[in-house]
Amino acid sequence: MVIDIKNYKKIVFFTGAGMSAESGVPTYRGSGGIWHKYNYEEFACQDAFDRHPQKVLDFHELRRKSVLECQPHNGHKFISELQKSHNYVTVVTQNIDGMHQRAGTENVIELHGSLWRLRCDDCSITIDDIGESFTNKKCKCGNYLRPDITWFGDMLNEKVIQQASEAIRNCDLFISIGTSGVVWPAAGFPQEAKSTGAYCVEINTERTELSGLFDEVIIGKASEVLTDLSFRT
Ligand code: OAD
Ligand code: ZN
Repeated sequence: MVIDIKNYKKIVFFTGAGMSAESGVPTYRGSGGIWHKYNYEEFACQDAFDRHPQKVLDFHELRRKSVLECQPHNGHKFISELQKSHNYVTVVTQNIDGMHQRAGTENVIELHGSLWRLRCDDCSITIDDIGESFTNKKCKCGNYLRPDITWFGDMLNEKVIQQASEAIRNCDLFISIGTSGVVWPAAGFPQEAKSTGAYCVEINTERTELSGLFDEVIIGKASEVLTDLSFRT
């Protein structure tokens, strides 16, 4: 492993479901993946919510319960400690589980929203709602509140993409962890980082479709590889 964290000033960690796998949160694809067990058309799209809001909310409550049973691992902790000691560390995540924040990382850019927020699009409001059950299910206007998550067919929040792009264009070290790299626009981030001169590292238990783009590919588990890196700070 050649990467030496001390040599970099602005670091972006870009994380996907593989980052939370060792905490016990299931990934989306691959064996045991959520989309093998649940049909997203019934549970994770606006159409499903409009037809059966309660069923969709129940599914998300199940996910909240299972995430609350999991704890951040040493890899999450390494990133949050590095952020405290290093000039500039930004986490851009596709994860909705809030695990980075629970480990103490601040200003996490959540591309796909959060399991811990609800919103009403008619009223343009978003509320924090943390806990196993949703404490609010309906907005003052009478609508069901929907999880503030990017579902299939939803547009990503433009402001959040811009924040992510800015951090990525300005970084000199880009570390992608535990993402299959198939979902856009996230799949374009390694290219964006590379085109602005960042050193790009991929950490994954296997090679991905994007591996060829990286300067360095480290095959291994997120927590173990990050624990190794921690000796270089
Ligand atoms: P995926 O489930 O597509 O990919 C998880 C990746 O993590 C795979 O490449 C695994 O090889 C890798 N992996 C598994 N365990 C690991 C470990 N311990 N250490 C390192 N890597 C490991 O998840 P994402 O790429 O995050 O979107 O999926 C992207 C988006 O697709 C998700 O945010 C979700 C999904 O549909 C929405 O819900 C909008
Ligand atoms: Zn409303």
